[in-house]
Amino acid sequence: MNKPLNIGIAGLGTVGCGLLTLLQQNSKKFESILNRSINVTGVSARDRGKARAADVSGFEWFEDAAELAVHPDIDVFVELIGGEDGIARQAVEKAFRAGKHVVSANKAMLALHGLELAALAEEHKKALNFEAAIAGGIPIVKTLRETLIGNEVKKIYGIMNGTCNYILTKMENEGRSYDDVLKEAQDAGYAEADPTFDVGGHDTAHKLAVLTSLAFGVEMSFDSIYLEGIQSIRPQDIEAADALGYRIKLLGVSTRTESGIEQRVHPTMIPKHATIAQVDGVTNCVAVEGDFVGDVMLTGPGAGAGATASSVMSDIVDIARDISFPPLAFHASDLQPYVRAKMRAHEGSYYIRLAVHDRPGAFASIASRMAEQNISLESIVQHWPKGGKDKEETQEPPELMPVILVTHQTNEAAIRRALDAIEADGQIVGPAQMIRIENL
Ligand code: NAP
Ligand code: HSE
Repeated sequence: MNKPLNIGIAGLGTVGCGLLTLLQQNSKKFESILNRSINVTGVSARDRGKARAADVSGFEWFEDAAELAVHPDIDVFVELIGGEDGIARQAVEKAFRAGKHVVSANKAMLALHGLELAALAEEHKKALNFEAAIAGGIPIVKTLRETLIGNEVKKIYGIMNGTCNYILTKMENEGRSYDDVLKEAQDAGYAEADPTFDVGGHDTAHKLAVLTSLAFGVEMSFDSIYLEGIQSIRPQDIEAADALGYRIKLLGVSTRTESGIEQRVHPTMIPKHATIAQVDGVTNCVAVEGDFVGDVMLTGPGAGAGATASSVMSDIVDIARDISFPPLAFHASDLQPYVRAKMRAHEGSYYIRLAVHDRPGAFASIASRMAEQNISLESIVQHWPKGGKDKEETQEPPELMPVILVTHQTNEAAIRRALDAIEADGQIVGPAQMIRIENL
């Protein structure tokens, strides 16, 4: 038997306790494949007296996670606290400086500081492994860093937030309210400590920023991501999507274009027959288009104790086996500067829902604003597409008429100009609902 690998675990919530359970259950397997045991040398969390999903009574307790991170008896610091700054980042930086490897599930910290942390890990010749940070149980980090390394990636996209996908699926299948389903996702341990990170699209954007760097060999640029969450999606949109042959998903998309890299996170209408449209509930899906491999799609659980612990464990096993890679596939100093493609240049087709005053000329005025911008319309529906709905059931006051437009291919700048003009004309009430259509 080789000498044990000693780990310190900071954060004993959903993921930390999931990891302890996995370690307890499969410890024999690790001993047999590694010829060494994995020992938990110490643990840290905020509240020592809290009831936990795993038994932590046998481990040395550290009040201060940073003290655990530099403890002479640990080889690996496992950061499962969360948060882009604060104690998580401090402890991770201290761990590298003290010569420890780091495993983290913290995408917020990686999206904002991943480049500096990767450089620090390389400087100290230590691992920074973060498979669990992106899409929970799906092995997309290793896939990009190792398996697809021979390709130039053209596009990467996916459903990367279990909470949002869970909410959208339940709203669609069960006609339930947004708030009701969000509570259920929180109770199941899928949501972030602050769930606005999930529903506002920030969590997906954190993951996309890291994937973009890994996929395209560029520096991370979280601030360049165009961001919209799912808060504005109404049951009317879900019903209209269904009638038009689409489903609504929160997608993160990163594409290499002639003018730079386009990164965007927003609700998206996807044709029902597309594989990714079938991805329901907390399941995530990440698709990569490579120049040699073609299209690769990985699907699996994106959140929850077991799935996330599974990825954390694979990172720990790599360290136990002495397998190491530059954290971001390229050495941090070799990553290319990020060049941003402007969102206004984005091309695609669009779904638009308007609450229009039911009076003569309103409809013609909207159509002419679209024509002014050279936007050609694929369909215009002046009632709910299902047809069976009475105006009274649409939640619009009786003097308002829901109008749904689907455009042919156009660009974001033209759509924005047309909608600004329509709003200024006073023919509609409230802002226009606009959802991008992606023909995947
Ligand atoms: P969580 O359930 O909220 O647990 C967070 C843990 O951190 C708690 O045990 C908390 O202590 C501890 N903590 C907070 N402040 C601390 C401090 N100052 N010092 C030491 N410990 C502190 O969160 P989680 O869902 O397990 O998520 C952990 C990380 O994994 C986050 O980065 C998250 O984004 C990421 N992640 C989560 C999932 C998921 O499905 N949940 C999936 C992928 C990635 P107390 O318990 O004492 O309050
Ligand atoms: N809150 C995240 C989600 C956890 O719902 O997907 C996994 O990263």
